[in-house]
Amino acid sequence: MSSVFHRVENRPLPVAVRAEGSCVWDAEGKRYLDAAGGAIVVGIGHGDRDVAASMEEQASAVAFAHGTQFTTPALEAYAAELAPLLPMEAPRVYPVSGGSEAVETALKLARTYHLARGDSGRHKVIARWGSYHGNTLGALDASGRPPLRAPYGPWLGRVVHVPAANEYRCPFDTHPQGCGERHAELLERAILEEGPDSVACFIAEPVVGATLGAVAPPDGYWPAVREVCSRHGVLLVADEVMTGFGRTGAWFGSDHWGLRPDILTAGKGASSGYWPLGLTVCSGEIFEAVVAGGFVHGFTNSHSAVGAAVGRAVLAKLRDGGLVEASRIKGERLLKELSEALADEPHVGDVRGLGLMIGIELVADRQTKAPFARAEHVTEGVLAAARESGLLLYPSPGGADGTNGDAFMLGPPFVITDEELTEAVEKTHAAIVAAASPARP
Ligand SMILES: Cc1ncc(COP(=O)(O)O)c(C=O)c1O
Repeated sequence: MSSVFHRVENRPLPVAVRAEGSCVWDAEGKRYLDAAGGAIVVGIGHGDRDVAASMEEQASAVAFAHGTQFTTPALEAYAAELAPLLPMEAPRVYPVSGGSEAVETALKLARTYHLARGDSGRHKVIARWGSYHGNTLGALDASGRPPLRAPYGPWLGRVVHVPAANEYRCPFDTHPQGCGERHAELLERAILEEGPDSVACFIAEPVVGATLGAVAPPDGYWPAVREVCSRHGVLLVADEVMTGFGRTGAWFGSDHWGLRPDILTAGKGASSGYWPLGLTVCSGEIFEAVVAGGFVHGFTNSHSAVGAAVGRAVLAKLRDGGLVEASRIKGERLLKELSEALADEPHVGDVRGLGLMIGIELVADRQTKAPFARAEHVTEGVLAAARESGLLLYPSPGGADGTNGDAFMLGPPFVITDEELTEAVEKTHAAIVAAASPARP
């Protein structure tokens, strides 16, 4: 009997003992093609010795230096190398231990910015339904994913939500004309209803991750949203925890639309899973405003020297290995091949994505886009069939109406080979046929 409180207790978990490139092996010798990159985390590939060495080197030199007592060469170098890649002016990087911490930090930073400017009434956060920002209470309140919120409802409710743009299920009668702009109007309406002087920030994922399954907005969305936020003095927080560091085929998801957020959060791909690393980044303007009065915040493990060394080594791999470009090119191929392979599958409603961040939505009825009932657990069935065949996929259930809806994601490492891409397409197809098709004519 195990003494671990596992994430999953309803089935035995295989024991991972080795990982290399795009594959993970368990203790029984079974190979898994990690088309999920864990949880859309691993960009540079598993088993990178250089990154492991950077960790050892830094830990041997200085493993821990508290952020209120020291800075470190690793941290200074990492931030300096990252800064030119970030979609903002004179960025300042605040490293933390993961995506949820990065989001908490971003929300507090937005509040602190307004306080520093004497705008003390601005405290409200607007986020979107169909979004995920983390599982700590502030980040969970921003998240628009009802099943995750439900048990903790009594602790939540401060954050205001507007809809996310989802072209596959667009509610506007003018679709596909001007959908992005109409969403920006909904955001503006929410700001006006709340009272513009009370709104601190709007937080959203540039491309929605696991809540909807790799959903990119129409091109008009981000420019229109940026304009609304700027006009009302509302800070725009781009949550790039999943989309950052090359996942969408650009350094940051924001880059696809020339979006310049005021604050940006990252995690996952920043360290490719080699270290628990998250980042909150703000523009120089925000930093200058905040720094005079101080930022009442901090974590014991923020500004980690080892985390920075690992982040820097991962950044070098992405940059020197041309891996962001690889994500774009391989992503285009994977999207095309999946779309072709699944074109005649009766329960495949949509195949979409950007770079190596791809979503497949399954529906009970292709014409009406009616979802399966969540109780049928179609997503879980596909994932189980894939796992059985040695393919790891990432679940995105609930996207059709917040509760029902079946989707899953592919987000493999950017070093995935041509043969592995073909394997991913074939095994994904087979898993869908096995789990979603036979019982349903
Ligand atoms: C967009 C986004 N924000 C925040 C988070 C939370 O990150 P973490 O799980 O590292 O706390 C996630 C995790 O999936 C995410 O996808």
